[in-house]
Amino acid sequence: MTKKAIITSALPYSNGEIHLGHVASTYLPADVTTRFLKQKGVEAYYICASDDYGTPILIQSEKEGKSPEEYVAYWNKRDYDDFTSFDIDFDFFYKTSSKENIDFSQYVFKKLNDAGHIYESEIIQFYCNNDKKFLPDRYVKGTCPYCKAEDQYSDLCEKCGRVPAEIDNPRCSICGQTPVKEKTKHFFFKLKNFSDEIDNYLEKNSNLQKDVKKYVQNWIKSGLIDWDITRDISWGVPIPGIDGQVLYGWFDNHLAYISSSLKFLEGKGINGKEFWNSADIYHFIGKDIVYHHFLFLPAMRIGIQNEYKLPDFIPTRGHLTLQGKKISKSRNWYIGLKEFLDYYPADYLRFYLTSITPYSQDDLNFSWDEFAIKINSELIGNLGNFVNRALGFAKKTFNGEIPSIEESDNIDKEAENKIKTLSDDVGSLIEQNHLDRAMKKILEFTTHFNQYFQHKEPWKKGVGTKTCLNLSVNAVRSLAIALYPFLPKSAEKIWSQLGMSSKISEQSWSSISELQIKQGHKLGTPSPLFDKVEESDIQKYKNKLSSQN
Ligand code: 2FM
Ligand code: ZN
Repeated sequence: MTKKAIITSALPYSNGEIHLGHVASTYLPADVTTRFLKQKGVEAYYICASDDYGTPILIQSEKEGKSPEEYVAYWNKRDYDDFTSFDIDFDFFYKTSSKENIDFSQYVFKKLNDAGHIYESEIIQFYCNNDKKFLPDRYVKGTCPYCKAEDQYSDLCEKCGRVPAEIDNPRCSICGQTPVKEKTKHFFFKLKNFSDEIDNYLEKNSNLQKDVKKYVQNWIKSGLIDWDITRDISWGVPIPGIDGQVLYGWFDNHLAYISSSLKFLEGKGINGKEFWNSADIYHFIGKDIVYHHFLFLPAMRIGIQNEYKLPDFIPTRGHLTLQGKKISKSRNWYIGLKEFLDYYPADYLRFYLTSITPYSQDDLNFSWDEFAIKINSELIGNLGNFVNRALGFAKKTFNGEIPSIEESDNIDKEAENKIKTLSDDVGSLIEQNHLDRAMKKILEFTTHFNQYFQHKEPWKKGVGTKTCLNLSVNAVRSLAIALYPFLPKSAEKIWSQLGMSSKISEQSWSSISELQIKQGHKLGTPSPLFDKVEESDIQKYKNKLSSQN
């Protein structure tokens, strides 16, 4: 771990609301990681932006009778607001249509072109005689030539994850008619020429997930195809000197990781390029965009002579299904983040999603019943119960004034040892990206302290009561700091109930292992941290979901 880090998560398209599927695999894990790195004393910045360009956005803005600028401005703000309500704490949220990103994308295009990595070629493009349009990407649907999955967009097969050279059985996605083929001139990026260098990068970087690497290396082995980076539409980064064509959205969007970081860092008086190149770079993604992040992105960075270093981590996670079924906006099978946060606090969702999301490409499932069970038994019954018991008892019995440690027996020593090792136990798992296991460790800690409290029976006020209370309250303090990256609002609540005068966000991770609450410290006012999830409410939300489908 170096002392600097830039963390990004896949840029959300500015064409619709953020839903639970988005946050599980990328925004939440990236937010947890950034908060943790900051606690570790790393100068870490979480940078994101809206992904404004591309054919689907143009199609949608046309449908709504808005200019694309107006359309994306709305979603940029709305998405940012939704993320903020979910306590996703970006250091900077910008946009791919910014002047900085347009300039940077054009600079990269020129540099790649000058180095001979781009060539022009006449191609045959689908053209719809009915709509009088060239039909790039999502304007065409058809059958994937590789896996034969039907009803796939021409720019990405959602079934096998590959980018087809040409889709079979094409249809215009606006009117459904079979398009004709017309000639047009496009720029191509020589992706194929980077096969060895990408392979080498994958081979050497041990921070990348083995299984993801393996299948990307298989793609490389089976032969990469050069990449068409031109689109015959008006909405995108203009190609210098060419009218009526723009750069493909996947050319410029990941460049906004860099251009937005530079804008932010330079605004702080930091040399952006120097910072980028001396930092650990993390790009959090979902498994549907592996192709783009493990092939296009490194190839383009290598192509501009590694002016900006390659990612150290590309944490890739699977898709969220909802009640066992694939999330689909068009079929109304999704839960918007904003809607969910009307039902329950952000931390309930942060807790549940973290617990069920492994560091792998395995899919995960949101189940309302499981959500209720986990919140009621683990978050409330275990974690919340311990905090409330320890603080409530100290308040009642010692008037909120912490007693000293007196004699300690082996059970006390074991409890003290749990406090001392919590930072390493949880921290090493976060460093390895196993956030679900880290959360589990925290729960093991509170389970241990619940048992400790039960065993010591401090309500009998016998020998060892003071030690038990002192250690339990210190455990609550350690718990709050360890919990902060995952459940920031609940951690703040615990902090205030502990009566701390400092800010929890400023506590160092290593201080988790210290017994900082000393004799005489005055607690704040304890109160239950969470409200139970009611079965009747869950039934209501389940019914609502089924009826909207
Ligand atoms: O798949 C998506 O949702 C894209 N908008 C992600 C873009 S990430 C990038 F910028 F690299
Ligand atoms: Zn396919």
